[in-house]
Amino acid sequence: MMVRDSIRVKIGIGAVIVMVALLLAHWLDSGTFAQELAMSQSTIEQAFPSSSKCKRCHERVFEEWEISPLSRSIHSPVFRASLDAFLSSPAGKDKALCFRCHAPHVREFPDQVQLFIDQAKAGDPSLDGVACAQCHLIKQVDRTKQPPEPKYELESKTLYGPYKDAVQNRAHQSMELGLFQKSDLCLNCHQSVPSAASLGKANDLLGNWDQSKAVKSGKECQTCHMPEQIGESANGEKKRKTANHTFPGRIGKLRQEAAKVDVHTKVEGEKTTVTVKVQSLVPHNLPATHPAWATVVLDLDIKGKNLKTVFTDKRVYGRVYQDAKGQKTSFDFEAVKVLEDTVLKPEETRVETFTFPTPKDTKTFDVEVTLNYASIAGPAPFLQRVEAESSKGSQDPVFQPIEIIKYAENISVNK
Ligand code: HEC
Ligand code: HEC
Ligand code: HEC
Ligand code: HEC
Ligand code: HEC
Repeated sequence: MMVRDSIRVKIGIGAVIVMVALLLAHWLDSGTFAQELAMSQSTIEQAFPSSSKCKRCHERVFEEWEISPLSRSIHSPVFRASLDAFLSSPAGKDKALCFRCHAPHVREFPDQVQLFIDQAKAGDPSLDGVACAQCHLIKQVDRTKQPPEPKYELESKTLYGPYKDAVQNRAHQSMELGLFQKSDLCLNCHQSVPSAASLGKANDLLGNWDQSKAVKSGKECQTCHMPEQIGESANGEKKRKTANHTFPGRIGKLRQEAAKVDVHTKVEGEKTTVTVKVQSLVPHNLPATHPAWATVVLDLDIKGKNLKTVFTDKRVYGRVYQDAKGQKTSFDFEAVKVLEDTVLKPEETRVETFTFPTPKDTKTFDVEVTLNYASIAGPAPFLQRVEAESSKGSQDPVFQPIEIIKYAENISVNK
């Protein structure tokens, strides 16, 4: 303000002075702008200390979390590319939407949305997404809200966790909170995506999980996704029961427990039928349907003479969405309707039948069945954008399918 006033006073003196004053004003302005940004980030980090602060004493937990997808919740090239697509879409007016789960502390700093956006776009944000404090400061989750909302304790030095008897330390107080061993903690981000609200119940990512056998037998999300192990909870403390923070899901061994496939091949002269029974062992949808392109694919490959593929077919498990213009869309924030839903429901068994001509000129043939998470799909410009955003380009992991199960059997034609 001071600078601007002085411009007005000196306006009669000469253009040169005005110019200098303007330049000065501009310089001062951008200076304060940069300072303000730095200040707002430090305000945010006063309430939600950076995970690097926890690393000092919780090295094991930090290293596990660091390799988990959670540590990249606003870093991944595909997140940045889809954030951009979102912001330039009509739904993008609600700028904080994606961060509500990908960097949930945005809820406490609604005025700082732009800072979160700029950080995510920078590619290597210094701001955390879903890190230690973002979970361990949650005091309560309100499941009457859709999606359920967490309540944060700001300006608190108390970190909540699973232990009744946490050892005292200099950095923070601790308190046992039952919520940390309950699915409710996870549901506030994993249950449904709010942008697809017009889809009604169809925006449900997990399906009827609470009716599953696993849940009825007392399993929580943590039982499978934060498996119990023995180790140091804090550096140098005695070993005790701890929780694995790599959050196995698509990555890690857990996915091998996703399903069972039973394959039965029947050769009847010229015609062969392969029946595949896919039994999901997961207490929630397989796959969870956000982002919208998330699909699991069952591939059948028949290899005849010289292991040459003579027949292939597949089944796709996922959702197909339609946008307001009546076109198929790969983005759930644009979706107004579900056109097709082939997701494997919690613990569902699906029987798939494939019929094809019996391979010729061979005594045996191979039946290969694989279940994979499909690689990313979407409009070409979007995929190019993801490629451009990634330091690995077209080698970015999102362009690779991830194997869940592989089954192979050699079948005799004369059987
Ligand atoms: C604040 C929101 C939030 C909370 C709370 C949360 N998650 Fe997540 N979770 C995410 C986001 C966002 C991702 C995706 C990160 C990425 O890949 O960009 C994710 C990813 C995951 C993954 C990896 C999924 C995959 O595709 O492999 C697992 C497993 C997971 N979370 C389990 C949990 C469990 C268990 C809890 C509760 C203890 C939990 N999450 C609590 C937001 C959350
Ligand atoms: C209600 C919480 C929630 C909201 C809101 C949300 N996400 Fe997610 N997002 C998640 C979770 C949980 C995962 C992990 C899903 C999984 O692996 O099954 C995820 C995964 C993703 C992924 C794939 C993993 C990655 O980062 O590489 C992308 C991309 C993504 N989200 C983009 C977005 C965008 C863009 C928005 C805003 C339009 C958004 N999300 C809004 C919870 C949310
Ligand atoms: C997505 C939410 C989430 C994130 C992110 C997260 N935690 Fe946890 N943490 C939990 C839950 C839930 C438990 C309790 C699990 C149980 O007992 O089944 C836990 C347990 C712990 C424990 C006690 C058990 C142990 O393994 O030592 C410590 C310490 C801890 N977390 C520290 C951290 C630190 C440090 C970070 C960041 C590097 C972090 N957490 C990130 C949810 C989270
Ligand atoms: C000066 C070292 C130090 C720092 C820094 C530190 N912690 Fe701890 N923390 C400990 C010790 C020691 C324990 C107790 C471990 C035990 O009882 O086995 C603990 C326990 C915990 C627990 C378990 C509490 C309970 O009651 O279940 C959580 C959660 C936790 N810390 C999270 C964090 C987070 C998040 C940060 C970063 C914001 C952090 N800690 C920073 C030393 C530290
Ligand atoms: C009985 C073990 C079990 C329980 C309990 C469980 N899951 Fe899973 N979950 C799995 C398995 C196995 C996979 C890998 C196959 C798959 O993608 O479904 C998985 C995958 C996931 C994925 C990533 C892959 C995807 O399909 O997007 C997310 C996210 C996830 N689970 C979240 C949760 C949440 C949230 C809960 C609690 C409401 C939960 N899970 C409870 C076993 C479990």
